[in-house]
Amino acid sequence: MAVQERKAESSFDRYIAEVRAVWGDGKDPQLPHKIAALMEKLFASTSADDPWMAQIIREGKPSRELYRDIEHGFIQMGHVHQPGHGNTPHDHGPCWVVYGAFSGLTEITKYKRTDDGSQPGRAIIEKDELHRLSPGTVKPYLPGEIHSTHAVEGPGVVFRFLSYDLDKIHRSRYNMEKETIIPVPAN
Ligand SMILES: [Fe+2]
Repeated sequence: MAVQERKAESSFDRYIAEVRAVWGDGKDPQLPHKIAALMEKLFASTSADDPWMAQIIREGKPSRELYRDIEHGFIQMGHVHQPGHGNTPHDHGPCWVVYGAFSGLTEITKYKRTDDGSQPGRAIIEKDELHRLSPGTVKPYLPGEIHSTHAVEGPGVVFRFLSYDLDKIHRSRYNMEKETIIPVPAN
């Protein structure tokens, strides 16, 4: 009888299996928090020497898709950010996202809108909260929450879990100084 060689299950494989197991219909309001807890567990059970994580660190790509779930539509992204890497305030439209730091230090600023939304294309936003994502820290950002990211120390491995493919939905960027909304249309 042929002996079948079986690859050992990695902490990443287990994480994806756990995400799939809690997903259900994807509409549970607690789901972002459940995924955040699973990502925290993933980081706690992963060493920088584990082959799959060592490869991410060695290759140092700013952005890569680590997993896409064909059935449910969620995506797990992996990023290696150099210090200074960042983006402007944005939301994820109807989607939610979970940001987690495996290494490095990333600051995420949350903003609140202070205008009444009555003028199309215009928004007044101000800084609301500052989250410091040190290694092992994971935070969910819910639909419509405006945020920006800034890598303070690194290179850092940052995980971004997307509830759905952001290229397929409409979302917005915000220019704080000009008080404008810049639409990011679906591809
Ligand atoms: Fe974001």
